[in-house]
Amino acid sequence: MLSKDQLLQIAERFGTPVYVYDAEKMKEQYQKLKSGFAGLDASFFFACKALTNINVLKYISSLGCGIDCSSINEVKLALHAGVSPENILYTSNGISFEEIQEAVKNGVHVNIDSLSNLEKFGKKFGSSYPVGVRLRPNILAGGNLKISTGHEKSKFGIPVDQLDNLLDVIKQHNIHIKTLHIHTGSDIKDAEVFVHGIKVLTELVAHFPDLEVIDLGGGFKVPYEPDDEETDIAHIAQRLKTYLESHLFNKGKTYTLWFEPGKYLVSECGYLLTQVNVMKDNGAQTFAGINTGLNHLIRPMMYDAYHHIVNLSNAHAEEKVYTVTGYICETDTFATDRLLHEVREGDVLAIYNAGAYGFEMSSNYNSRYKPAEVLVLDGEAKLIRKRDEFEDLLRNQVKAL
Ligand code: LLP
Repeated sequence: MLSKDQLLQIAERFGTPVYVYDAEKMKEQYQKLKSGFAGLDASFFFACKALTNINVLKYISSLGCGIDCSSINEVKLALHAGVSPENILYTSNGISFEEIQEAVKNGVHVNIDSLSNLEKFGKKFGSSYPVGVRLRPNILAGGNLKISTGHEKSKFGIPVDQLDNLLDVIKQHNIHIKTLHIHTGSDIKDAEVFVHGIKVLTELVAHFPDLEVIDLGGGFKVPYEPDDEETDIAHIAQRLKTYLESHLFNKGKTYTLWFEPGKYLVSECGYLLTQVNVMKDNGAQTFAGINTGLNHLIRPMMYDAYHHIVNLSNAHAEEKVYTVTGYICETDTFATDRLLHEVREGDVLAIYNAGAYGFEMSSNYNSRYKPAEVLVLDGEAKLIRKRDEFEDLLRNQVKAL
């Protein structure tokens, strides 16, 4: 965890708004996964949709973690960061067959999520390229419906109810299915959700003689609110191990487990540092208007997500109640009636848990610049993305009139 002083120095040196990531915390999280799952043959692929800066990809990969991608461009970024293809997984959703072909050309692992693409894949590659299928297990899980992906109405994956059609396609084209994949959602703390997933897959494995890998996706929850408890990774691992040993491994079927954690690896390592532009009192509420908004961190507005906020500049002052709002021409509220150490114009605030789906979901709405990104590694703060400049707003605009 970075200290308040470290964060203040970074705000001073690089300006605000700025995203700051603590490499040490990423490492600590990865080690918790590794040690939690030590009793199982498990590998981890960082779901880089959470944070794709190439320096982060390079660092996480240097820890021994693979990279999970959700677009061909993420695959290209991972390759660009120096990650080798066998450590890259492309778990697709609703993509064109051209992207799958490109992924195959690059030699990365692929999980296919529709019968239509699997059929095209079979026609083109037959059994020559071992591949995974993404299934929809009909499990409702995750912090809220917007981030639940495995339930019966979800667009993701091939529904398990269509097993017969799936097996027909595989048989017809002699496809080598190496991996069965599911991802039920994000913000999951309950070990039984993962056990449920394994149970669904256990029913199916007999149909897949080439199967080597069971991929349970991502979703491990991290604490966001001060009194949130940590997800007990070792407990999840133990529950999975017990289940696998009594239902699969005892029958001579051993599989490697893959996981695709995003938030777990990078949420807590990240801070969005912002400065207070304006204080405003409307009688009922005191607003702290900050120099960022839903254009930089949309999670509070999109999912009603809680992000802890700390006033770095006045940490010993008395606490008062504030509503923290952004500078976008929409209601972009970061926190309502939140206790913060007395806030003054010019103070630097830190918004916590900003590493995952923070910068990644940012935009140039209201023609604002995207923030800079800084990585703290071995005590040194390094700029890993420059703040946008005016030219960036014009870059792809064509003066046609
Ligand atoms: N694998 C697949 C196939 C996924 O779709 C996702 C996330 C992950 C892994 C990683 O999930 P995680 O470990 O980060 O929970 N923007 C939302 C989260 C969307 C997650 C989308 N898929 C948020 O900020 O809460």
